Amino acid sequence: MAKVSVTDLDLNGKKVLMRLDFNVPIKDGKVGDDNRIVAALPTIKYVIEHNGRAILFSHLGRIKKEEDKPAKSLKPVAERLSKLLDKPVTFVPVTEGKQLEDAIDNLKDGDILLVQNTRYEDVKDGKYVKRESGNDPELGKYWASLGDVFVNDAFGTAHRSHASNVGIASNMKGKSAVGFLMEKEIKFLGNAVDNPERPFVAILGGAKVSDKIGVIDHLLGKADKIIIGGGMAYTFLAAKGMKVGNSLLEKDKIDLAKQIMDRAGDKLVLPVDNVVADKFDNDANTKVVEGDIDDGWQGLDIGPKTVALFESVLKDAKTVVWNGPMGVFEMPNFAKGTLAVGKYLGSLSQATTIVGGGDSTAAVKQLGVADQLTHISTGGGASLTYLEGKVLPGIQAITDKD
Ligand code: 3PG
Repeated sequence: MAKVSVTDLDLNGKKVLMRLDFNVPIKDGKVGDDNRIVAALPTIKYVIEHNGRAILFSHLGRIKKEEDKPAKSLKPVAERLSKLLDKPVTFVPVTEGKQLEDAIDNLKDGDILLVQNTRYEDVKDGKYVKRESGNDPELGKYWASLGDVFVNDAFGTAHRSHASNVGIASNMKGKSAVGFLMEKEIKFLGNAVDNPERPFVAILGGAKVSDKIGVIDHLLGKADKIIIGGGMAYTFLAAKGMKVGNSLLEKDKIDLAKQIMDRAGDKLVLPVDNVVADKFDNDANTKVVEGDIDDGWQGLDIGPKTVALFESVLKDAKTVVWNGPMGVFEMPNFAKGTLAVGKYLGSLSQATTIVGGGDSTAAVKQLGVADQLTHISTGGGASLTYLEGKVLPGIQAITDKD
């Protein structure tokens, strides 16, 4: 069902509650990678240019005890946002009460206010009460009462049912809507999975089969080929009867891997060689092996023949979705497979190439190939949940378009 868009709302002079995903890295009181803040700018600008009074909400990190709070303040985000917009952003260091209500009352059309980290509500009087992350009904109702309309542009948080996304949307008297980032993410991920130009190839990597079972399951019915790399490949290789030495292995998932391979037939593409190391260390001794991996050695990257195999599968692809690195890309000596796949994707001018998931996004950025890909999702868990074919509660709660 299509959702109401920010462009459908009357924003003039309205108090516009906005949920963004400003869950960004903070180091020494400064924002690191500001990609998620930059990605939220078009909707914020649209709201203020249409004379809305923007009241911004976001979580930052996880808060389980009082001492977690100072390092998780959104103040540095307010500073970065103000720089990016070249406009003052009023930061309110609390999440409820008179100070917040007065600050909202003082807003003029086109002003911007950022509320303190919504997860401050998870700890009250020293107790872990999860008011925000448990979607406390009173909290959602209270926040909803502070505005006239609600815009959710936090795709990265859409898989969570929090008071600041689902709670506000369900309690708004006025309409709730999705913002431009949310629309863009749904367009790219949704088209790729449900209406792909074919051949549609999925590349799945990362450490564990157990993290990706839902995605593999869903994509088996959608993709033409599924390439498997990264640590999780070793559980599949073990299921084929190969020795994997000291490589990462989920023994209790071997049967499941067998079942997946039976169902998948030739849809599943597994590594044919691996870069193995004698310890988990960038400076370990390494060699490339085809077939069995001896005890004392562990696979930490895909080998050159596998890169060539994966490239041959990707050559004619028209849609590619990539989630999860091909090896331990954080260590330069085991980043080559991930780099090669990223570079090759960048060269596929005929294909729509989409990257989802925190690790693969970090990988393409670290490797400098992000600009050559069609869409880099701002969602880690959210894009995975989407690729599993599941409903995202943050989107579901938004008003349906008539
Ligand atoms: C993310 O970074 O994936 C989102 O901001 C959600 O954060 P969370 O995993 O702490 O809920």
